[in-house]
Amino acid sequence: MPRRIDIDPESVERYLQQLARFGAVGPTGVSRPVYSPEWVAAQDQVAAWGREADLAVRRDAVGNIWSRLNGTEDGKVIVTGSHIDTQRPGGRYDGALGVIGGLIALSALKQQLGLPKRPLEAVSLCEEEGSRFGRTHFWGSRAIVGRIDRGEAETLLDYDGISMAEAMRSVGLEPAAIPAAKRTDIDTYIELHIEQGPILESEGVVIGVVEGITGLSWTEVAITGRAAHAGTTPMHLRRDAACAAGEISVFVRRLAQGMGGHQKGTVGRIELYPNLVNVVAERAMLTIDLRNTDESLLQDAERQLAAFLDRLAAQEQVAIATRSLARFAPVSFPTEMVSLIETTARELAFSCRRLPSGAGHDAQMMARLCPATMIFVPSVGGLSHNVREYTEPAHLEAGTAVLLHSVLRLAE
Ligand code: GLV
Ligand code: MN
Ligand code: MN
Repeated sequence: MPRRIDIDPESVERYLQQLARFGAVGPTGVSRPVYSPEWVAAQDQVAAWGREADLAVRRDAVGNIWSRLNGTEDGKVIVTGSHIDTQRPGGRYDGALGVIGGLIALSALKQQLGLPKRPLEAVSLCEEEGSRFGRTHFWGSRAIVGRIDRGEAETLLDYDGISMAEAMRSVGLEPAAIPAAKRTDIDTYIELHIEQGPILESEGVVIGVVEGITGLSWTEVAITGRAAHAGTTPMHLRRDAACAAGEISVFVRRLAQGMGGHQKGTVGRIELYPNLVNVVAERAMLTIDLRNTDESLLQDAERQLAAFLDRLAAQEQVAIATRSLARFAPVSFPTEMVSLIETTARELAFSCRRLPSGAGHDAQMMARLCPATMIFVPSVGGLSHNVREYTEPAHLEAGTAVLLHSVLRLAE
């Protein structure tokens, strides 16, 4: 292994607590949607930390913050990072750990080693969660890989009807400049993240070596029935959009349970109209999130869902229209990247195991550009997308140490 670099054992936890003040919800939650004032303050803090560490800091065309440590040689860049936006509300660790871990790693390298051979950058990506603009994920990493369509910023609307373009302008970013955020000089990407599931904790393992990322299929379903009086309309004459929405929610759960393996299914959002106690709902809108690490099984789940919706429409006498919000095939990380993390974890004497990610991550976008992989650390109780998300400080430090020594290996 190359030289061993130390990190201040409490620094990861300390920086995480400081970042969590921006958009704090109650004692442990955070709500920091992309381009909100809280998000701006958090990105400013990340940039300030980068400058304090004597790194070269810049903001790109979508608001990703890059902190660079030059190499003694020029060439393609080794990048680490994660995202700064959160669920609404989410916890303190999802995304933030990889941003802070990357900065701490580069800062420690600079202090203890000076310049590495190859250039390194830590990136704080502007958006990953899809928590504000429910039709997109990965805004920051999509910009880097050049996967934002022309005009997309104008047509994407948040839950309050504000367009992505307006939101960008409100923080001093010009949507027409988005193509400038594209990078073609990235060599490799490694992302540190909390597991967000129960496997590492239940097995007493400290480091998760991520082999790949689940495929994801998001669908919006619009149901149209007929508004009617709740007291006078006989049950058999109803065309009840709320009832159909409930049936879909139950079906999605049973579908995933029945398929087993890595299949997941979630109805996370339902809206009814007119949403009144004594009116049979005329319309319902809901979202379905299907995921599987196997593309053919994911397609099978999509087919079963489509067939069910057809049957349901006939049975409940409602119209059902669907539209795809997001669709990403599963991603497998290259074996040499996976082995790099595994070898580094073992050399640092941390227990580790390979596992797939059931969550979406910027690493799956970056994998379109360069060899990528991820490092997971345990989530207490497997909880995430929850204000009670928690990871032990010793595990935060372990993950950061594995990240640091993995990028060092690449950089030397
Ligand atoms: C984001 O965290 C996702 O997996 O959808
Ligand atoms: Mn995340
Ligand atoms: Mn998340």
